[in-house]
Amino acid sequence: MKTSSFSTFTDVLSLSLTLLLLLSLPSPSLGAAKCNADDKKVLLQIKAGLNNPYLLASWTPDTDCCSWYALDCDSKTGRVIHLTIFDGNVSAQIPATIGDLPYLEMLDMNRLTNLNGPIPSSIAKLTNLNFLRLKSNRLSGVVPTFLSQLKKLTFLDLSFNFFSGSIPPSLSQLPNLLALHLDHNNLTGNIPDSFGSFAGNTPDLYLSNNFLSGQVPKSLGYVNFSSEIDLSSNNLVGDASFLFGKNKTVQFVELSMNSFQFDLSKVEFPDGLTNLDLSVNKIFGSLPAGLTKLNLQFLNVSYNSLCGQIPQGGKLQSFDSTAYDHNKCLCGAPLAAC
Ligand SMILES: *[C@@H]1O[C@H](CO)[C@@H](O)[C@H](O)[C@H]1NC(C)=O
Ligand SMILES: *[C@@H]1O[C@H](CO)[C@@H](O)[C@H](O)[C@H]1NC(C)=O
Ligand SMILES: *[C@@H]1O[C@H](CO)[C@@H](O)[C@H](O)[C@H]1NC(C)=O
Ligand SMILES: *[C@@H]1O[C@H](CO)[C@@H](O)[C@H](O)[C@H]1NC(C)=O
Ligand SMILES: *[C@@H]1O[C@H](CO)[C@@H](O)[C@H](O)[C@H]1NC(C)=O
Repeated sequence: MKTSSFSTFTDVLSLSLTLLLLLSLPSPSLGAAKCNADDKKVLLQIKAGLNNPYLLASWTPDTDCCSWYALDCDSKTGRVIHLTIFDGNVSAQIPATIGDLPYLEMLDMNRLTNLNGPIPSSIAKLTNLNFLRLKSNRLSGVVPTFLSQLKKLTFLDLSFNFFSGSIPPSLSQLPNLLALHLDHNNLTGNIPDSFGSFAGNTPDLYLSNNFLSGQVPKSLGYVNFSSEIDLSSNNLVGDASFLFGKNKTVQFVELSMNSFQFDLSKVEFPDGLTNLDLSVNKIFGSLPAGLTKLNLQFLNVSYNSLCGQIPQGGKLQSFDSTAYDHNKCLCGAPLAAC
């Protein structure tokens, strides 16, 4: 008993000594920088500008702002680098003071019930942003040209809002963009010709469910989309066959619900194509035999003007007849024999 209590005593002693030592050393875990005072002031202005939503209840002046909900600080400098406010009952415009967080790298305001009005021009000051997502809100006005000044952006998502007007051609000046989501808005006009000459790689393009019109610029035929191009549910017309081609890297091509009109018979598909939706257009000719060589996971060519036998083999008979229905004279499994 005696030995044991003695050893407990020395244990406690050595533990306290260790703790003392640790506390006196600059340690990254214990020494994380406190929130920068300027950033804290701006954050409190943002909270007020958003009409003090319940979502930001933890943002109180008497606490270190690096501990607040919905944000991250750089642990060395205490500057706010991530702001991710989502799934909340917010009725307000985006406060202009958001442009006064100069070290912000990620801004994500997503699924806020009534976040409305335009994107404030002060966002152009956030030149360290590499991720900007303002998805599923009630934002309106134009897609601002000043977004093309945010040269570090790799991801830009303004989808599921009420943005109107045309797509600014200058977005092609973003040299690091990997994905551009402008789908589910009220955008009109043409797809910019400049999207075939991005400053860096061509980003994956998500433009579906808008009111885009005219032809797809030929320039898009000369570039590689690393995985996806989605133009479905617009008012696009004419040829889009140049988006394909044996040597392309694209895996998902979605062109459904437009008025595309071209001959599919001679089209060569990229080897890696897995998802192809051409449904509800005016595409004619026949289905090329090359389709049987692809590892397709999704195919829909219904509601077009296609004719002739569905090539037999590959994945083509694994799709049900609705993938082929409502064409001019397609035949063969899974449709009726020719
Ligand atoms: C959202 O906030 C508004 C006013 O701020 C309030 O009237 C409404 O009941 C709230 N809705 C929900 C679902 O909490
Ligand atoms: C967006 O388009 C829809 C459908 O045409 C229309 O009802 C709505 O008023 C438009 N909204 C804006 C903000 O332009
Ligand atoms: C697309 O990428 C593939 C594979 O990297 C390459 O072989 C092809 O030349 C590229 N095509 C274009 C149009 O850049
Ligand atoms: C695909 O790339 C190969 C090798 O780079 C080239 O010889 C061929 O002409 C290209 N095919 C097409 C259809 O562009
Ligand atoms: C193909 O698209 C049509 C038209 O949108 C739809 O009715 C049908 O269910 C789709 N079939 C498949 C297999 O995706």
